[in-house]
Amino acid sequence: MSSLLVDNIGELVTNGAGEGPLGIRRDAAVLVEEGKVAWVGPSASAPSADRRVDADGAAVLPGFVDSHAHLVFAGDRAAEFAARMAGQPYTGGGIRTTVGATRAATDDELRATVRRLRGEALRQGTTTMEIKSGYGLTVADEARSLRIAAEASTETTFLGAHVVPAEYADRPDDYVELVCGPMLAAAAPHAKWVDVFCEQGAFDVDHTRAILAAGQAAGLGVRIHANQLGPGPGVQLGVELDAASVDHCTHLSDADVAALVGTAHSDGSGTRTVATLLPGAEFSTRSPYPDARRLLDAGVTVALATDCNPGSSYTSSMPFCVALAVREMRMTPAEAVRAATLGGARALRRDDIGVLTPGARADLIVLDAPSYLHLAYRPGVPLIRQVLLNGVPQ
Ligand code: NIG
Ligand code: FE
Repeated sequence: MSSLLVDNIGELVTNGAGEGPLGIRRDAAVLVEEGKVAWVGPSASAPSADRRVDADGAAVLPGFVDSHAHLVFAGDRAAEFAARMAGQPYTGGGIRTTVGATRAATDDELRATVRRLRGEALRQGTTTMEIKSGYGLTVADEARSLRIAAEASTETTFLGAHVVPAEYADRPDDYVELVCGPMLAAAAPHAKWVDVFCEQGAFDVDHTRAILAAGQAAGLGVRIHANQLGPGPGVQLGVELDAASVDHCTHLSDADVAALVGTAHSDGSGTRTVATLLPGAEFSTRSPYPDARRLLDAGVTVALATDCNPGSSYTSSMPFCVALAVREMRMTPAEAVRAATLGGARALRRDDIGVLTPGARADLIVLDAPSYLHLAYRPGVPLIRQVLLNGVPQ
């Protein structure tokens, strides 16, 4: 059995036992065996191993868990971004532009985009990345989007209900029937989750409920795009359906927050339904940011994710989202790092990632910095020195 020791860690974020909310250990080492964390302790008393990575006093963290990304698409919407920066609002209407380009693309073109973006994210410390479909919107195009997504991630999400495609514009009920029937049947073998864009101009509460319930009946877990562009029923519907995560949460009522708090575990281990915040979307659409403090102060579990997509948030960078969360959403650096690691894991209902404790997957990042604080303190700087994925240096 080959082993690897990461030692001389100046500051180790475990998200388990240790100092503060990040479970920090100083002058630490991590022993990796068979792709898993086998031991965590003081560097001075570390066991020997076949191979060694000398962290040289740097900070080591669990790899980022990006629980919300749309990577299967073709083309870009740089002109739409430029128009927005000149004052146009974001409405989600550009999704159909990407649908046209995606349908026209070959499998290999889509695959190349997924690989490129997954590679970008990995170099920025993302060791788990959820990938949604949602730019195909035909039975065949949704199925192939998910097949291609599944080549890059086990966390794949069927988002056939992203928007009603143009050919169904005057008969949305028929489209919902297609999504719940043949499209779901073709998608489900390649998907772990089902998601709906529940928003005015996309899917209303009845359609959303029907699609999520059909997905659940097909064995998929539930996630939902909710309350992004305005107030709405999405968050409370997500809680009612035991969604793993309600995503965006930009426009929340007191009742929405109370519903999320109401799912909290009494042992303090957090909520069942996580609120996933996507500050890249507010950045790229020049919109007001969600009120992270209100959620955190109420005891809701918060995750941070990129929402990487060609329209509302074309970034694959979790460090950028951490910096935005701290600067623009009044999260402390510790809260933001926890949300980008353990929060993402909870949003995917995974307990083997987002932590560096014995038994966890050895997905970790070595920073070019002495502390996790630098992720927000040095925005835009490539601080990821090394990534270990399943114990393997990348
Ligand atoms: O999460 N809100 C819906 N979907 C994406 C945007 C997709 C697009 O504009 O292409 C989002 O922001
Ligand atoms: Fe999204």
